Amino acid sequence: MKNLLVTGGAGFIGSNFIHYMLAKYSDYSIVNLDSLTYAGNLENLALIQNDPRYTFVKGSIDNYDLVWDIFQKYRIDSVINFAAESHVDRSIMGPQIFIDTNIRGTQILLEAARNFGISRFIQISTDEVYGSLGDTGKFTETTPLSPNSPYSASKAGADMLVRSYYKTFKMPVLITRCSNNYGPYQFPEKLIPLMIKNARDNKPLPVYGKGTNIRDWIHVKDHCAAINLVLHNGKEGDVYNIGGENEWTNIDIVKTILKILNKPDSLITFVTDRPGHDFRYAIDPSKIKRELGWKPEYTFETGIAETIEWYINHQSWIDDCTSGQYQHYYDKMYKDR
Ligand code: NAD
Ligand code: DAU
Repeated sequence: MKNLLVTGGAGFIGSNFIHYMLAKYSDYSIVNLDSLTYAGNLENLALIQNDPRYTFVKGSIDNYDLVWDIFQKYRIDSVINFAAESHVDRSIMGPQIFIDTNIRGTQILLEAARNFGISRFIQISTDEVYGSLGDTGKFTETTPLSPNSPYSASKAGADMLVRSYYKTFKMPVLITRCSNNYGPYQFPEKLIPLMIKNARDNKPLPVYGKGTNIRDWIHVKDHCAAINLVLHNGKEGDVYNIGGENEWTNIDIVKTILKILNKPDSLITFVTDRPGHDFRYAIDPSKIKRELGWKPEYTFETGIAETIEWYINHQSWIDDCTSGQYQHYYDKMYKDR
């Protein structure tokens, strides 16, 4: 497992994973296949763009011939599939691309990997495939899938395909399902970087509903460490839940950001709720802790302070992401809410 194909490596978690792996293993090489959608940003990889162990290929996971050529040319042994449309709200505005990339794209990538004889295929899934929790309980690996948004339904569809390639073709696949990530390089459409940006700009912070929905936050580096363990030591055909056991209501997250940035709570604006909004996510990570010895390194207190500092120190990164199409997206998403 030394020649990795990372798909979607110009996005938030994929770019963090590439940084993590190159820092950890001096003898690994990584090809990053990314189609550079609005969420893909090569600036995320500027620090390693000239590293001889790293190659970028612009293209889509649904291009079988391109994927095949990459497998051959770079003697790929493992695939880590991050490539996806990842934003729930965009999936509500327009589901089609979610089906095309997350389901059809994953199937084409799987098919190429099967025919080539890849040694390890890691599907980066999400806890959202399990649906929504009430006040109590946690998602385990055996919780039935019950997705509620077009995004989570497309991820669940991909998971089912990945599972079928294990059962039918004995392909060496593994699936990870993680809770909400935070950290550097997250596109400012997601809760934490969006609220940091708006607070910086003294603009309203749009909180859906009453802000009482709950998410279970994990630092992206802890997620990357978990994926690395699954890649090397996970059991073929298995699912691994990954989560920080760190539940917060959205309103408390937003207030924490405002407090650290020394901005007033009066910037908070309650807006119409997300349709089908999942109330609560909470991951039970005991399997990956017990079987692979994973544990998170970050406390939320340290992680969120470092994350806010990173965005404030990378203002031009935020500004580049939010130039062009972003304002159009933002107006469409929030104007009449
Ligand atoms: P992101 O939107 O930041 O990045 C997605 C990347 O995929 C982008 O670089 C984009 O250009 C690329 N991409 C999209 N379509 C592609 C295609 N057809 N071919 C090649 N590349 C393509 O997403 P993220 O937050 O980094 O999420 C990465 C993965 O992790 C996703 O599969 C997501 O479902 C999963 N996940 C995310 C979270 C989270 O909190 N962000 C939590 C659990 C799981
Ligand atoms: O749980 C894992 C999932 O986490 C990943 O699979 C997804 O790719 C990722 O986007 C994330 O999904 P969420 O929908 O939970 O994340 P988001 O940042 O969009 O929203 C977090 C919470 O904050 C959610 O309850 C909705 C709320 N929210 C979000 C935005 C963007 C607001 O209140 N206001 C906002 O403007």
